[in-house]
Amino acid sequence: MTQKLPHVHVVSTGGTIASRPVSPTQTTGYSQIALTGDDLVAGIPGIEQQVRLSTEQIFSVASSALKDADLLRLSQRVSEVLEDPDVEGVVVTHGTDTMEETAFFLNLTVRSEKPVILTGAMRPSTVLSGDGPLNLMNAILAAADPQSRGMGVMVCMNDHLLAARDVMKTSTYKVETFRCPEGGCLGFVMGGMVHYRYAPLCPHTAHSEFDVRGLAELPQVEVVYTHIGCGTEMLRAALKSGCRGIVAAGTGNGSLPPEFCKTYREWPGEKPAMVRASRVPGGFVGDYSGKRDAENGTVPGCGFSPQKSRLLLQLALTVSSDRDYLCGVFSRY
Ligand code: SIN
Repeated sequence: MTQKLPHVHVVSTGGTIASRPVSPTQTTGYSQIALTGDDLVAGIPGIEQQVRLSTEQIFSVASSALKDADLLRLSQRVSEVLEDPDVEGVVVTHGTDTMEETAFFLNLTVRSEKPVILTGAMRPSTVLSGDGPLNLMNAILAAADPQSRGMGVMVCMNDHLLAARDVMKTSTYKVETFRCPEGGCLGFVMGGMVHYRYAPLCPHTAHSEFDVRGLAELPQVEVVYTHIGCGTEMLRAALKSGCRGIVAAGTGNGSLPPEFCKTYREWPGEKPAMVRASRVPGGFVGDYSGKRDAENGTVPGCGFSPQKSRLLLQLALTVSSDRDYLCGVFSRY
């Protein structure tokens, strides 16, 4: 009796992997999102002998155009697909610009132990040394592999399997752009074989407390960047915007200018929650003095980037805006 091949569902959203440049040397400046999920899988010779594939086109956009409502729709759709007992795993093809955000959001909201792997490309698939076809093949093989169950959402790029919690885009042009500065490279795919070396410890997917099934929108959270000479205008604009949360992209250990802290601390009436993250790509933001955050009413970002802090804060605010709860979420996840 022949063994049934694993079924992987590919959900396409656009990005460079789906673009068709005008010439094989046009590695930048292309804009058209032309290839569908079917076109992308057709570019992997022989994959149908290893995996049963189905595809769907949920969006066709550059990833910088994605909105919160799109993240909700994608998460709900991926959870729905994974409920099918015939489906082994899902691959999401995605632009690289915001891939780490979508991966992290899915990691916190998809209710399944089954693999969800995001992939994309730094170069269009049809240019010289296009990285898309191999990235997609590796992602499909990882999603079909039983070892990937329970590993949380991952990004598969440049042969690496990277945990959604930790992965970030670190270069605007290199194919080895996705990295985990603080650990989180869980394994790799080599010669069509999936190898894992580490597993994530923080809660994710089936063990996350966040439930977005049936949710139509997320709480508004704004990011305010700080720097030498930073005034309080952007902070005031955020405070006046009616948002439920603010992520301050601080310097070093999430340090914020004194005037910035004073403006937030003394803002009259009910104010949005504030997470203190850092512009620095690695490390950890903790309240080392033991009282600075309590005095200011801020929440230490615990090492999440400003963009990931925003998503975590949005999800946490669907549960509670209590500061102790928010501090607990940032230290647990
Ligand atoms: C995008 O993020 O949609 C464009 C850039 C890319 O996919 O590399």
